[in-house]
Amino acid sequence: MPIITCIEDLRAMAQRRVPRMFYDYVDGGSWTESTYQANQADFSAIKLRQRVARNIEQRSLGARRMGIDMAMPLAIAPTGLAGMIHADGEILAARAATAAGIRYTLSTVSICSLEEIAQAIAAPFWFQLYVMRDRGFVASLIDRAKAAGCDALVLTLDLQLSGQRHKDLKNGLSIPPRLTPSSLLNILGKPRWIKGMLSTRRHHFGNIMGHVKGVDDMRQLADWTYQQFDPRLSWDDIQWIKERWGGRLILKGILDVEDARLAADSGADALIVSNHGGRQLDGAPSSISMLPAIVEAVGERIEVWLDSGIRSGQDVIKSLALGAQGVMLGRAHLYGLGAMGEAGVAKALEIIAREMDLTLALCGHTDVQHLDHHILLPGSYPLP
Ligand code: LAC
Repeated sequence: MPIITCIEDLRAMAQRRVPRMFYDYVDGGSWTESTYQANQADFSAIKLRQRVARNIEQRSLGARRMGIDMAMPLAIAPTGLAGMIHADGEILAARAATAAGIRYTLSTVSICSLEEIAQAIAAPFWFQLYVMRDRGFVASLIDRAKAAGCDALVLTLDLQLSGQRHKDLKNGLSIPPRLTPSSLLNILGKPRWIKGMLSTRRHHFGNIMGHVKGVDDMRQLADWTYQQFDPRLSWDDIQWIKERWGGRLILKGILDVEDARLAADSGADALIVSNHGGRQLDGAPSSISMLPAIVEAVGERIEVWLDSGIRSGQDVIKSLALGAQGVMLGRAHLYGLGAMGEAGVAKALEIIAREMDLTLALCGHTDVQHLDHHILLPGSYPLP
């Protein structure tokens, strides 16, 4: 068993253990992947100030965000198909997040359902919603999220049409996997994954199958899902969803100052600066490069979170220094999940927490809640 010391170790292990079509789905970005790469490269370019002799013995990572006391200002990002990365993946990741004292966000297009997560963790989690043409179904998802005890709704706004990911097309990504000679050969080389999948009955989109009339098998489900993401989405729909939900609302996929103002005007509780992990508009700027301008424009009116590109505690600290109130982890937790299931997600969170703690300290600070751009080297970070 190799010694795991960083998220990259988990990524490499996940790559070995997860069938190629699902690993590539997680790991890839859209088209040339320029935005996907910028997300990480722009974090690397930001430099931290090394400070010494500042009594860093007592340190704290805890923060109150979205009205919730969190062990760190972090949540697990919603990610589609996590239950294909590892059997019962969403349940395992939700357990690890809850144990670590942070919120798990379940995707609309998860394999395990809202009700299964509620039953498995018996603690609050967040639910991510896509607006679909069938508004009756959207309403029923909102009601199910309430019944499941979700304490925030994360409404994704940047994927009404999907960016093209070359590898998914070439791999023939499908749920459950379509077996061609090459995909079969690849899957046969992943015995742990097969063993897990044979031990669970959760192999389809759990939030959808059985809840939509006329969608009773995989073929119908695939057709339905493709037709359902609604490109007519507008701010009026967001008001309707806000009213129907009635609880805390987070708008995900804001990358532009004008949209950030509209998000704040909408009365939502938080927005997430995000380019969907570089999976949507290729050529868009990195999330971290847009963060300062968005915080300056609306940071007084709405909680500003960030995702896309976080692979370390250092990246989290840089985000907080530039004004993010919290950060979401997508791929970083999926690498852990693919590598070692629940223990792998726990490991990913432990790695990030330790990196945050030590980075904070080596910057001469002790409280993650009181960070600002003064911990960064002038000239190395984006300005509003
Ligand atoms: C994706 C969607 C499902 O990025 O969130 O693939």
